Amino acid sequence: HTNLVALNNSTGENELAIPQLIEPKDGVVTINAQQGTTEIFKGVQSQTFGYNGSFLGPVIRVNEGETVIFRTKNELAEPTTFHWHGVDISGEGDGGPHQLLGPGAMEDVKFTVRQGASTLWFHPHPEGSTAEQVYKGLAGLIYVEDNNSKNLNLPKEYGVNDFPLVFQDREFTVEKQFDYQAVRNDDGTIGDTLLVNGTINPKLTIGKEKVRLRLLNGANARNYTFKLNTGDKFQQIASDGGFLNSPIEMSKITLAPGERAEIIVDFSKYDTESDIALLNEDDAILLPFIIDEQKTNPLQISTSLNDFAVTDKERNLSVTKKLELFGMGKMVYINGKQFDMNRIDFSQKQGDTEIWEIYNKPDAMGGMIHPFHIHGTQFKVVSIDGNEPPVNLQGWKDTISIEAGQTVKLAVKFNNKGIYMFHCHILEHEENGMMGQVEVI
Ligand code: C2O
Ligand code: CU
Repeated sequence: HTNLVALNNSTGENELAIPQLIEPKDGVVTINAQQGTTEIFKGVQSQTFGYNGSFLGPVIRVNEGETVIFRTKNELAEPTTFHWHGVDISGEGDGGPHQLLGPGAMEDVKFTVRQGASTLWFHPHPEGSTAEQVYKGLAGLIYVEDNNSKNLNLPKEYGVNDFPLVFQDREFTVEKQFDYQAVRNDDGTIGDTLLVNGTINPKLTIGKEKVRLRLLNGANARNYTFKLNTGDKFQQIASDGGFLNSPIEMSKITLAPGERAEIIVDFSKYDTESDIALLNEDDAILLPFIIDEQKTNPLQISTSLNDFAVTDKERNLSVTKKLELFGMGKMVYINGKQFDMNRIDFSQKQGDTEIWEIYNKPDAMGGMIHPFHIHGTQFKVVSIDGNEPPVNLQGWKDTISIEAGQTVKLAVKFNNKGIYMFHCHILEHEENGMMGQVEVI
């Protein structure tokens, strides 16, 4: 029932905001959680949260192999944490609910980037107020680049033919403010107003060329199914944690909260008169495109992108961790229990691969989808209901949408030690207790 509120159509009134791209300077990236006001609606200031600004956050670009310090500071009037969703990082650096920073507190998070090119993200994770803080605007992207991504033929000019797109639906009061508590829903807070990178009624001007869109479902609860209004296909090149082995032709793609995908849309076949837009499943206009004929680039996309595989060894491992997701509203459980900070469900050895089997147990009303996320790792989807996963899930993932009645098997390996969360990424489910912890030793 989380998708019942219809989304507005973008009128294309406003050019899409492109987040600032930041890179380490002398190995340091500064990230401040702040509050401020933002002109989302013309002439009105809305109270918002943001990183290094009043609303949403920058894109942080790092390279595989480099050691970086994320210098975080909490300038909010309330506690927060800085969680690096999808980053291969120690439990202490992960920014889960145990790493709470009070108002004014600073923390240096030092780590070496040990994962390949990918589009990851960051958001707060304080116990009890993750959903509200994300809702008010705390979210940003992390791009990892590597030698492979630098050499591939792909659109890679930031803000020119390679765009971050953060999709979030929100509900505004008549005064055009967020009133999270007033609209909070235990099965996920949704809104009728779409923001893309924080822009209301966005449009995106692009060249007559192949364009790379890095999609993040940054909503608290709503699923998005992206398609083109022309019915034309696009190519998916990456899942949550890296490139797929080769570009995959898709006519639509569904992302649950927390999931990412990179797609390539070929605009070279359209002209300036073309009416072209990204739509949601229900035909709501998410993002209209304006084609600038001046910009062309006859790029041939690389056909071989990665060498991801589920090995026979992994396929033959037996299940050593079993999880059952169950419930709705306030009554949401993992293995019959709700979260508490001392709960440790399992331990796992650093560097070992184990098979996690996750079952979404239906209830009398059927149940609902739970996007299941594990911190501190990228996993492989071994099977869904015993079958090979669809080809666009044959790549690194950190969040997987599990339908009621489904069982998925994941090959999970942690490269670092510490305590990590796993939870439903419908943020209100996470807050209602649909979260557990694994200790990596
Ligand atoms: Cu994206 Cu535990 O979170
Ligand atoms: Cu859930």
